[in-house]
Amino acid sequence: MLTVREASLDDLGAIARLEHYCFAPDLAFGRRRWRYLLAQAKGRTLLVLDERKQLMGYLCALEHKGWDRLVIQTLAIRWTIRRQGWARRLLAQVIQDARKANWGAIRLEVDNTNEGALALYQQLGFQFQQHLTNYYGDGQHGQRLVLRLGRDDIVGRQPHLDGVSHHLNASANAIPLRDNA
Ligand SMILES: CC(C)(COP(=O)(O)OP(=O)(O)OC[C@H]1O[C@@H](n2cnc3c(N)ncnc32)[C@H](O)[C@@H]1OP(=O)(O)O)[C@@H](O)C(=O)NCCC(=O)NCCS
Repeated sequence: MLTVREASLDDLGAIARLEHYCFAPDLAFGRRRWRYLLAQAKGRTLLVLDERKQLMGYLCALEHKGWDRLVIQTLAIRWTIRRQGWARRLLAQVIQDARKANWGAIRLEVDNTNEGALALYQQLGFQFQQHLTNYYGDGQHGQRLVLRLGRDDIVGRQPHLDGVSHHLNASANAIPLRDNA
């Protein structure tokens, strides 16, 4: 059975190794950036682990108080468990907790050619906000997507989340993103 938990600095090596297989070298954060994300940055990283505690996936989200939004920094799932709903579960957990903590929105950037990720985000209600020319390198354009979490947006905006949330409540050690909800 796979489980979800919050990452700590002890997970840095495993995250950097998995990242190496999931992203091109110029897009990977690398150990220094991950050390910052895990030890200093304001936010959270969720991990998916298998029975042997092997890392199967991760999602990192940072808080941006000035913009009243969370920013998804990165998301990856090990190829052996793709298309089993794990990325959707991690995102659903972050969305659910962000709503509870009264964040205004969640933002992320995605490569225009990453059709799988685009389908995933659109399924969860993220909407196009901005075209990002050469964002991932020369000729590699991206786009910024936003999921607004304002009260008016919540109604009818929970596709596929019910079962997902239930599953995560059973297995994840959820920590609120902000205390002043
Ligand atoms: C993108 C990624 C995170 C998706 O992880 P995943 O766990 O396989 O995704 P899920 O199983 O939760 O998929 C949920 C939905 O997203 C869509 N989706 C995911 N991967 C897809 C693919 N390769 N092709 C088409 N649709 C896809 C589907 O609609 C899917 O629902 P379905 O399987 O019921 O049809 C994973 O492929 C990955 O790690 N890729 C490499 C790193 C990366 O691109 N990260 C995203 C950076 S923005």
